[in-house]
Amino acid sequence: MHADDNYLQNALGRRVYGAAMASSRLWIALPFAALVAANGCSKGSGGGSATGGAGSTGSGGNTGTAGQTGVAGQGASGSNGAAGQAGAGAGGTGTAGQTAGGGSTGQAGAGGAAVVPPTGPCAPPADIYSPIDKLSQTGCMDPVTLTKFVSRAVPYEVNSPLWSDGANKSRAFVLPASGKIHVKDCQANPSECPQGAADDGKWVFPVGTVMIKNFMFDGKFVETRLFMHQSDDAMMGWVGYGYEWNEAQTEATIAPDSRDTKMFNTGMRTVTWNYPSRMDCLTCHDYRGGSTIGPETAQLNRMVGTANQLDTFAAMNLFETPPAKPYKAALLLPYSGQLGTADMTAATLDARARSYMHANCSFCHRPQGQFPNFDLRFDTPLAMAGICNVATKKTAPTITATKIMVPADHADSAMWQRAHSMTGDNGRMPAIGSYVVDDMGVQVIADWIDSITTCP
Ligand code: HEC
Ligand code: HEC
Repeated sequence: MHADDNYLQNALGRRVYGAAMASSRLWIALPFAALVAANGCSKGSGGGSATGGAGSTGSGGNTGTAGQTGVAGQGASGSNGAAGQAGAGAGGTGTAGQTAGGGSTGQAGAGGAAVVPPTGPCAPPADIYSPIDKLSQTGCMDPVTLTKFVSRAVPYEVNSPLWSDGANKSRAFVLPASGKIHVKDCQANPSECPQGAADDGKWVFPVGTVMIKNFMFDGKFVETRLFMHQSDDAMMGWVGYGYEWNEAQTEATIAPDSRDTKMFNTGMRTVTWNYPSRMDCLTCHDYRGGSTIGPETAQLNRMVGTANQLDTFAAMNLFETPPAKPYKAALLLPYSGQLGTADMTAATLDARARSYMHANCSFCHRPQGQFPNFDLRFDTPLAMAGICNVATKKTAPTITATKIMVPADHADSAMWQRAHSMTGDNGRMPAIGSYVVDDMGVQVIADWIDSITTCP
């Protein structure tokens, strides 16, 4: 590994981790514990009243509720500070939406919540160093059919996905009770877009939000990632965890804090899967790129079933203020695949390539990002991107290119060389977390470079 790269990784690591160690443990732990305690109290007492409701229903089915009632009671007593217990209490109240999750309403909810084994509330852990061990206990997935999102989770699709070594993915988010999504409006509020108008339409999720992403091969789950908005700390408010699925698909267990590699038998083949470290999560999900990466109007402006999912989410009242219509233009699918058939006409090559780089590169290559020398966001015009005939600043093994991008010459462009053939974590782009080259994505970058005749 090149010394320079090493330094950068380490420096980064120390920045994220050193800071997390120094401040989060004390800083986050204290106020958050207080928050949980407060929540536990109010939710717990709510649970108590829900018990009354269940009792008064008096249906046989609710008898089993009594056992659960005990759990809610624990929440009420406040003697059990565990987030999971508080969650059970919340379920009892029917406030957290877990009740609605059961698909039933009102009184049925009191009983309905009780039928489900007690799980966490699908909320960030009080102590970021003590995440819930089993996915089934988090409350983020359906405890009966663990490969399904819990029903209060809101599934969504993106137009241009991150390449994840060939895995299929599914995504959802769980908002905290009464939490709303803020959509950045760079025209009306330039101050919320310090990196320029290209961040227009970026979504901001409230504290308490849990983002969920599943990774599958041949329909078998290999990993579920939870990315959680744990505190309002602008730099370290989010924390991420991976869960490693068993081949029987009955449970997923928290991945270690450090990187992990497993051979996973899908029943059809064995795939090698690399679980990122928790620091890796934050290296990509850097606060300077917005922490969450996918959700923004241009990424989610997409028909899902018979409706545009932005319309669906607006109707569900998920936004502080819904994105204005007409919606910001949709990003394009860079190439045909699991998400659909790409429009391969020359007219859209530029949009496909930019959509690809936006999703796969721009969370680091942006004005205040990890490598801010160039800007690969979709809305940044080529003339402003800082790549065309611009000299490289870094070296890496087997990289011979001396310009980031040379018009009409992909083979001599560092962008293409970096994305094309390097070993993961050793000069290959994206800089971390990818070990299989995205041949189709690399081809889109090559075609795009070759289509540019001169620098603007
Ligand atoms: C190589 C960079 C990279 C690493 C490492 C990474 N992610 Fe992501 N992640 C992304 C990108 C890019 C997206 C958005 C595109 C998509 O959804 O396909 C994303 C999306 C997500 C989402 C959906 C919400 C969102 O922000 O778009 C979750 C949840 C998530 N990642 C969790 C994690 C967790 C937890 C870890 C660590 C265990 C992790 N990620 C590591 C790049 C990364
Ligand atoms: C996780 C953050 C991250 C992502 C994602 C990422 N890069 Fe990088 N990139 C870096 C860092 C950090 C460097 C500087 C260190 C190095 O040279 O490896 C870099 C360096 C580069 C360089 C060399 C720059 C120079 O001046 O020599 C090129 C070209 C490049 N990246 C292209 C890309 C492309 C194309 C993508 C998307 C396919 C991408 N990067 C995705 C972080 C990232």
